[in-house]
Amino acid sequence: MIILSVETSCDETSVAITRDGKDVLSNAVLSQIKIHERFGGVVPEVASRAHIESILYMFDEAIQQANIQVSDIDLVAVTKGPGLIGSLLVGINAATSFAYANKIPIIGVNHLLGHIYAAQIEGDMKFPLLTLLVSGGHTELLLVKDHLEIELLGTTLDDAVGEAYDKVARILGLPYPGGPLVDKLAHTGKAIYNLPKPFLKNEPYNFSFSGLKSAVLNLVHNMKQKEVPFLVEDVCASFQEVVTEVLVEKTKNAANLLGVKQIIVAGGVAANKGLRFKMFERLPDFEILIPHIRYCTDQAAMIGIAAYYQYQKDKGTGDYFIKGDSSLN
Ligand code: KG4
Ligand code: ZN
Repeated sequence: MIILSVETSCDETSVAITRDGKDVLSNAVLSQIKIHERFGGVVPEVASRAHIESILYMFDEAIQQANIQVSDIDLVAVTKGPGLIGSLLVGINAATSFAYANKIPIIGVNHLLGHIYAAQIEGDMKFPLLTLLVSGGHTELLLVKDHLEIELLGTTLDDAVGEAYDKVARILGLPYPGGPLVDKLAHTGKAIYNLPKPFLKNEPYNFSFSGLKSAVLNLVHNMKQKEVPFLVEDVCASFQEVVTEVLVEKTKNAANLLGVKQIIVAGGVAANKGLRFKMFERLPDFEILIPHIRYCTDQAAMIGIAAYYQYQKDKGTGDYFIKGDSSLN
């Protein structure tokens, strides 16, 4: 089954062609980072307009790169939420028009489901499995009992981990999006600062990162005020040490409590080199599936993979009407 998928939930305009929920034939991604950089974050209205300008080119690019004809496409899939509503609607309208004009069925896919299913590109899911989903908007532990049978175990009580990375980057004067840069600098720094480790003792499945972010803010503020020289790299390393420690330990505890054998780590922050290394190093008794870095951050291939499994249960709408929902979980 050949699926054309579309993802425009935030600041990446992406169209992909995937086959049978496994093979990625093409994955065209246009990032808007350069456009939003000068604002220090994604500006929703600017993002919608940029999607409009490039979406049709991405359709062409994905189809050409995959070397297929439009008539080969069996299903169209599109991210329906959560995300920025204006951005979602650009993708939904483009995908729906394409499907309608070519008489192809269409289904709307949850963005977070896409992040989880990106792991299926690396290896087969074995149920029940535990997923740590870490992105700019979400930090969740999920029990995946079977295809599309997902139970939310816990989430962040405040900031998402990617959001904490981006805010720490801003405190340090680094450009948006800060996560990848903090990760890079952490590798040349030393974790010499003692920051609080938010383990939330009696809440095995929940997270909290806003206290840690404030601790970084206070540390940097105090050092600047007292004119104490410091290396940005050391602050990054100290922050990353705590974040990865909390994520890995909580995932390990949850996996032991639930008795699962396989763990998926997904979402933009799963691209973090420190987190990837520590997961494999500290959880040798589990089979760990982490998508390739290119499939961790937002792109349409993950939507096409999830759509294949969703289609087995829900054959798509016949009326070409998909509702975008910014708050959908
Ligand atoms: O999944 P994603 O592309 O978009 C959302 O659905 O939110 O995740 C984006 C988030 C941003 O906060 C970005 O800073 C973070 O993932 N991120 C990273 C790394 N690469 C992306 N955070 C830490 N280390 C990285 N290498
Ligand atoms: Zn995402």
